[in-house]
Order: sequence, then structure tokens, then C-alpha cells
Amino acid sequence: MKIVVIGGTGLIGSKLVGKLNEQGHEAVAASPDTGVNTLTGEGLAEVLRGASVVVDVSNSPSFEDEAAMDFFRTSTTHLLEAEARAGVAHHVALSVVGTERLQGSGYLRAKEVQEQLIKASGIPYSIVHATQFFEFMKEMADAATEGDTVHLAPVRIRPVYSDDLAADVGRTAVGDPVNDVVEVAGPDEFQLDQLIREVLAAKKDPREVVADPGATYFGAELEETSLLPGPGAHITGTAFADWLVEHP
Ligand SMILES: NC(=O)c1ccc[n+]([C@@H]2O[C@H](COP(=O)([O-])OP(=O)(O)OC[C@H]3O[C@@H](n4cnc5c(N)ncnc54)[C@H](OP(=O)(O)O)[C@@H]3O)[C@@H](O)[C@H]2O)c1
Repeated sequence: MKIVVIGGTGLIGSKLVGKLNEQGHEAVAASPDTGVNTLTGEGLAEVLRGASVVVDVSNSPSFEDEAAMDFFRTSTTHLLEAEARAGVAHHVALSVVGTERLQGSGYLRAKEVQEQLIKASGIPYSIVHATQFFEFMKEMADAATEGDTVHLAPVRIRPVYSDDLAADVGRTAVGDPVNDVVEVAGPDEFQLDQLIREVLAAKKDPREVVADPGATYFGAELEETSLLPGPGAHITGTAFADWLVEHP
């Protein structure tokens, strides 16, 4: 089966392409690096020829509100139009657990628009909502840093390993469209400020982490369970502590 992976050169995309090809599928990485640009439409018709499934794991090069909105609105529109013309039977997209309740964040408002466009497209779809990647912890710390201090709300978080997530997205891609959202999360729950404190200590990063109940998450206000998936989420295998030992 030909599966086009938009963003197939990125963190999740490159792992996904590798896993699908190992399973005997024809997975094609599509990104500006390989001559496919969803923002301009360049290369889309060609790469989608003969494709049964498209997986969109692309990301906006900028997390700034307007840039992210422009990226997800324009690129998703181009992609879905090209898929309709090519007769693609299943559109899979990766988004974030809690997107719908974290709309104080400009980035997550852009992800919500991406999801709405998919749902309205008429193309059978599956949207995978993942929790924060293990690899994303440093970016979360950086975004919450003021001077030498990291301000994080003491809320619950259940991060996931990118490798496990890529395997899950792959299973979704080769399965039937669910026309719904499915959730994926890692095995362990943490308190956000404690987790980031542990990560920075492991990296010998001198920043102090403070538990600040008023701290926002990329602009979104948080309640204790805002970042957690619901009870039906698929729980993956790799523990954060084991990953941290292997990825110092
Ligand atoms: N970070 C998290 O914790 C988290 C949690 C849940 C969900 N997600 C979602 O996971 C998805 C993937 O994240 P990631 O960290 O794997 O992304 P990433 O490593 O930043 O990779 C982004 C990919 O998008 C491609 N891309 C950028 N502009 C493009 C364009 N105009 N046309 C086509 N492709 C383009 C890039 O291609 P080039 O390399 O050629 O530029 C790259 O392959 C995102 O949609 C994000 O919302 C992230």
C-alpha cells in the first residue's frame, strides 16, 4: 500500500516512514526537503498519485500565533484538496491531547482549525491525539523560562516516547478510518513542574523550576487534568525514566 507521510523527514515522520517500509508498505516521505511543499502545493499532485493513505505529521516552522495558523490552515487546505483529486481513501493526522480545551494557545487554535478542516473534508479520516513527546520537555522548559527561572503549573502530564507514538500512528494508518479522534499517551503520570525539574537536573541545566499555579502552557490556562487523555487512550510501553537513562 502506498502511504504518503507529509512531514516524513521530521521527528515522528522519519520514524513512521521507517516502520511502514519495514512492514512492506511503500511509505514515501514528503516535505520541502523531498520537493513537496503543502504551503505552496508544490509536488503534491505528483507524490499523491497512487496513494491509498496520507499521514500528516508536518509541523509549522514557527510556533508564533499567526504563522502557525497560516501554516495549518493553508497547508491542510491544499493537502485535502489534492487528496480529493487523487482519490485518497484515508487521511491520518497527528494532533495534541486536549487541543479543544487549550484554545488560549495560538498554536493549539491552529491545530483545532486543522482538525475542523479534516472533519469537514468528506475524506475518511483518523485524528491521533498524542500527549507531549519525551523529546519536547526542553522546549516546554524554554517556553516557560523567565530569566533563570522556569515557571510551570503543578498539573498532571503523561508524556509519550516518539518511537512508541510513531508505531501507533503507523497502526492507525494501515487500519480502517475511525472518523474520530483516538488518544495515545505514555505509561507514567507526573506533575509537570517536578518532571521538568528532573529533566533539567539530568541535563545539568542550572535553571530553577518553580510550581506556579497561574503559569500558562503556550498561552493556555491549565486545570489539573487539561493535559491528560481520557480513559479510552492507548497507553504505550516505554517509561520516561528508562528513556532518560538512554538519552542523556
Ligand atoms: N511536540 C509534541 O510534544 C507534540 C505532541 C502531540 C502532537 N504533536 C504534533 O506532532 C506533529 C509532528 O511533530 P514533530 O515534532 O515530529 O515535527 P518536526 O520534527 O518539527 O517535523 C516537521 C516536519 O514538517 C515538515 N514541513 C515543514 N514545513 C512543511 C511544508 N511547507 N510542507 C510539507 N512539510 C513541511 C518538515 O519538513 P522539513 O524537514 O523539510 O522542513 C518536517 O518533516 C505536529 O503536527 C505536532 O502538532 C506534537
